Amino acid sequence: MKKINIVCLGGSMENRSSTLAVLKYAAKRLKLQGAEVYIADIKSMNLPVFSYKALKAVKNRKFTELVKKIRAADGFLFASPEYHGTVSSAFKNVIDYLEVLSADKLPYLSLKPVGCIALGGAENAGYATLNSMISIVHNLRGVAAPNSMAIGYASNLFDSKGNLRSEAVIKKLNRLSNELFILAERLRD
Ligand SMILES: Cc1cc2nc3c(=O)[nH]c(=O)nc-3n(C[C@H](O)[C@H](O)[C@H](O)COP(=O)(O)O)c2cc1C
Repeated sequence: MKKINIVCLGGSMENRSSTLAVLKYAAKRLKLQGAEVYIADIKSMNLPVFSYKALKAVKNRKFTELVKKIRAADGFLFASPEYHGTVSSAFKNVIDYLEVLSADKLPYLSLKPVGCIALGGAENAGYATLNSMISIVHNLRGVAAPNSMAIGYASNLFDSKGNLRSEAVIKKLNRLSNELFILAERLRD
């Protein structure tokens, strides 16, 4: 049987993005479950601010590849840092470019599951951003995974060896990855 395909989209414009590191951790989990995973690092796409003109002119190889992967995907994992109480403009900009999927037979992310992860610097951060992400997913006709999660204390998440420090965060990320895999299997059938 064909493998479950998951597109992981996120990160930030910073060189050592904790958001990207969390996304990569969850991607590893999904691979262990047997998924084929594609990681789309927002920074590497380097897209100009969205306009229809910019969308028509886009020749960016990474973006073209992302669109191809999205069309073939069974599910998605989104990760954004919290900037001033909502998703970062870099994350939202890539989402706006998904307008390219608007005229598809099944537009945007139609009926596909999306796990969302929001990271904030403050103690109980990320919840407002998580709500924005879930709203984005529903507007793109996707199905938000119930175990989508907010993570606080983002700058303290990893130790010097790059391992996640918090057992609670690990447990929640594993739960979300497992759930996303199951949802992708069930909604594909
Ligand atoms: C412009 C800006 C705005 C931010 N706003 C918030 C915020 O509203 N709430 C919060 O908890 N953290 C906020 N932070 C902290 C980031 O969410 C946090 O450092 C994040 O994990 C950075 O992700 P990154 O390492 O992937 O770049 C902000 C950071 C920046 C640079």
